[in-house]
Amino acid sequence: MFDVNTELLGVIGYPLGHSLSPLLHNHAIKELGLNMVYLGFAIKPELLKEGVQGFRALNIKGINVTIPYKEKVIPFLDEVDSLASKVGAVNTIVNKQGDLKGYNTDVIGVQRLIEDDGNFKIKGKKALVLGAGGASRAVGISLCQNGIKEIYVLNRTETKAEKLLNNWQRLYPEIKMESGVLSLYPSILAKVDIVIDTTPIGMAPDIEAEPIIDAKSFHSNLLVVDLVYNPTETTILKAARQAGAQVLNGMGMLLYQGIEAFRLWTGIEPEVQSWRDLVENFI
Ligand code: ATR
Repeated sequence: MFDVNTELLGVIGYPLGHSLSPLLHNHAIKELGLNMVYLGFAIKPELLKEGVQGFRALNIKGINVTIPYKEKVIPFLDEVDSLASKVGAVNTIVNKQGDLKGYNTDVIGVQRLIEDDGNFKIKGKKALVLGAGGASRAVGISLCQNGIKEIYVLNRTETKAEKLLNNWQRLYPEIKMESGVLSLYPSILAKVDIVIDTTPIGMAPDIEAEPIIDAKSFHSNLLVVDLVYNPTETTILKAARQAGAQVLNGMGMLLYQGIEAFRLWTGIEPEVQSWRDLVENFI
């Protein structure tokens, strides 16, 4: 039961749509017997500043931030963790006595997806990132932070890939980087160890969408990761698997970013397997 001491956690976004975070965090709260509750706050854009101020006033302990506020929330915080400022986006806020600090747990989410679920060591490897949107920013910082040797970013709109890469290169001058338009992928695929698709192509409901990579270009020495997890195997993963590559969907990123957020708020890491079962039953 809730009482006057129940601590509040929540997610802000607009609209909140299909966020699975309340399901995951409330499950962990219940399993651990904590006096907390995790709610959704669909804050209208013109009220974002007041919303954040409200976290201080109402002593809301922990907040996840989703689309469209991951960047917009930053000016209203007291402090931003160095990784989050490298990404330029915050997905988790910790409220310590009214002092709000922003983190980006997507960075560790990407690392654990690749290294724990994919059984793949990032250090010293060569990566191709497809897409240059919000998700791609956390992927790039995660790869660079964990010692990737070379990184290529290809995007439909070339200027966006260039801009992203310039930002990464400024932060990590020692890493070899190249950006370009999507159609360059065949020559790059031949020399990388891992491909990460950050585009929404193949995501439900449009699950039959043509993959942006021709199946013939894949090879068996690749780990191919698609951040989409619904469906569990997108058309690009299917093509990669048929070419003998190791494949991985993005569910682990959802789970690990949430585990890290929960750890920041409570000091406790929820069991990944129980969260995985929960999401698998849900989608
Ligand atoms: P997210 O926050 O999930 O990364 P986003 O910021 O909207 O979403 O970025 C989506 C990325 O997928 C972009 O790089 C986009 O390419 P553009 O920069 O050219 O828009 C890419 N993308 C989306 N649909 C695409 C499609 N049909 N073909 C190729 N790239 C696509």
